[in-house]
Amino acid sequence: MERMRSWLFVPGHRQKMIDKAPGRGSDALIYDLEDAVPPDEMDAARRKVGAALDAAKEGPRRFVRIHGAGHGAMDGDLRAVVRPGLEGLVLPKVDRPEDVTAVDRSLTERESEAGMRPGSVRLAAMIESAMGLIQAPAIAASSPRLVALMFGAEDFAVDLGLFSFREGELMSYGRSALVVAAASARLEPVDKVYLDFRDPDGLARETQAARGLGFSGKTLIHPAQIEVVHRVFRPTDEEVESARRVVEAFEAAPEEGTMAVDGRMVDLPVVKRARWILRSAAKREISMRREG
Ligand code: COA
Ligand code: MG
Repeated sequence: MERMRSWLFVPGHRQKMIDKAPGRGSDALIYDLEDAVPPDEMDAARRKVGAALDAAKEGPRRFVRIHGAGHGAMDGDLRAVVRPGLEGLVLPKVDRPEDVTAVDRSLTERESEAGMRPGSVRLAAMIESAMGLIQAPAIAASSPRLVALMFGAEDFAVDLGLFSFREGELMSYGRSALVVAAASARLEPVDKVYLDFRDPDGLARETQAARGLGFSGKTLIHPAQIEVVHRVFRPTDEEVESARRVVEAFEAAPEEGTMAVDGRMVDLPVVKRARWILRSAAKREISMRREG
């Protein structure tokens, strides 16, 4: 699956948001059945999300955040949303590998009942506790369905007794550890939400920091956040230009092994990174042309 920069949460009980969300331009949608939905609205939300999946055509990939393993509502969530049109599930509050494998098994049954290929529904695991973070490398390796680890900063802050989930060294450590755990199993690391949805500059700064930490995408709560995040995750013109010079210099004299370009040492890992930047810039150009 290609890298997905923007994962927009859409509350499962808000019909107007559900209707318009696919047209807002995010790479993925996460219809929420967990913490954004009041208990009284749960049944209605399951029906609304099920109907949205049936109507899904092109556009963003559709994920649903269900209740986690061990929660009484999980089976009902699965019955309502495992159907063609569903790309994957977001599992909240994953503390250990068994929280993933339990869902994996129920999913396989549901898939055959829904006439879907077994194993086709993907998973993203939310890490939002001290235990989840410690177990993150084992969680990341626990199912071939997994495509991403996501950082749930609000619940993480509650679990660790932090006053704020904004910044601070513990929060950066948690985010960094999640990136490394995801990379160890070749999963995408997806960063926390930024709650001040009327503050694009603050969001751009936090996204820039996330990019520096190694995240490939960010969870979002409002459509206004999509374009900001896409802009930050796009390679800059300078990065593309510098990568092009590195690759050209290396390909002109591969037998040299190491060389100097723009006053900097270039060797194989630098060339690999430069090629990766050029490939992702080319892909973005194609998808931007498609977007409009
Ligand atoms: N998904 C889809 N559409 C959304 C949206 C979302 N998450 N958030 C806002 N919109 C839509 C609104 O419906 C509105 O549409 P309209 O122009 O057609 O009327 C438009 O975007 C502008 O919304 P705005 O008035 O600025 O915000 P709001 O007050 O309606 O909603 C929130 C603000 C925070 C309540 C809302 O963004 C939200 O519920 N976000 C998701 C929360 C969530 O899922 N949390 C769980 C994970 S952390
Ligand atoms: Mg949470």
